[in-house]
Amino acid sequence: MITVAGLSFTLAGKTILNAVDASLPAGKITALIGPNGAGKSTLLKLIAQQMPASGGAITLSGRDLRGIRPDQLARRMAVVGQQLEVASRVRVRDLVGFGRWPHSQGRLTAQDHAAIDAALAQFGLDDLTDRFLDELSGGQRQRAFIAMAYAQDTDWLLLDEPLNNLDLNHARNLMAQLRRLADTRGKSIVLVLHDLNYAISWADHVVALAGGRVAFAGPVAEVATGETLSALYQTPVALREIEGRRIACYHG
Ligand SMILES: Nc1ncnc2c1ncn2[C@@H]1O[C@H](COP(=O)(O)OP(=O)(O)O)[C@@H](O)[C@H]1O
Ligand SMILES: [Mg+2]
Repeated sequence: MITVAGLSFTLAGKTILNAVDASLPAGKITALIGPNGAGKSTLLKLIAQQMPASGGAITLSGRDLRGIRPDQLARRMAVVGQQLEVASRVRVRDLVGFGRWPHSQGRLTAQDHAAIDAALAQFGLDDLTDRFLDELSGGQRQRAFIAMAYAQDTDWLLLDEPLNNLDLNHARNLMAQLRRLADTRGKSIVLVLHDLNYAISWADHVVALAGGRVAFAGPVAEVATGETLSALYQTPVALREIEGRRIACYHG
């Protein structure tokens, strides 16, 4: 479990996260939701130790993350940020290979190559392995970065808006894959989602942020209601049951 306690983040005198408490259960999918600017990406970056918090603590299985060396952390946690920095003259296969760095330090073994092949296949990139990143569509590039994180072979996967640019088939497939990774391999997945229906349909747990604070958090089925979601987004959201699934309606 990752536990966030009293976490705050201040930038140029502006409070971006304010005393955030949250538990991210191991072996589950946790969705971070909330309006634009709520602090979701900031929280993910702080958990990933990409920048220091202004106050509070984050623990992984009871251990303060600040005490874990970056090379050790990279074997436990893989991260795909919201802004994908595209080194354009990199081929898909090489990008996915970067995910093996914490294991191989650049000298790829047969085992690393097998992990790269598995990641390429898992994310439907078999036909694109030799393409340069700047020759891909946004969705293909998104999948290449997720494959890189997968190849890192960590217990924790942190993904900031992984459905960005994905068509509905690839978006649904990605969620189904993440679900399988959690259910069959015990992977712990934390992801920022905008589409409430993906959060409701696929996540176990939700942490809702608004204005840098936790609005609500807990098991999706218990805490995500029409009332809490409407308040979170300041727009009417109704949950309806359709074909046995709860669906968020917000186009009315
Ligand atoms: N580098 C930055 N400089 C100044 N403000 C920032 C910076 N990064 C984020 N912010 C501000 O912090 C708040 C939270 O941002 P972010 O975590 O990206 O939100 P979210 O991912 O929920 O949309 C926003 O108000 C945003 O404008
Ligand atoms: Mg964001």
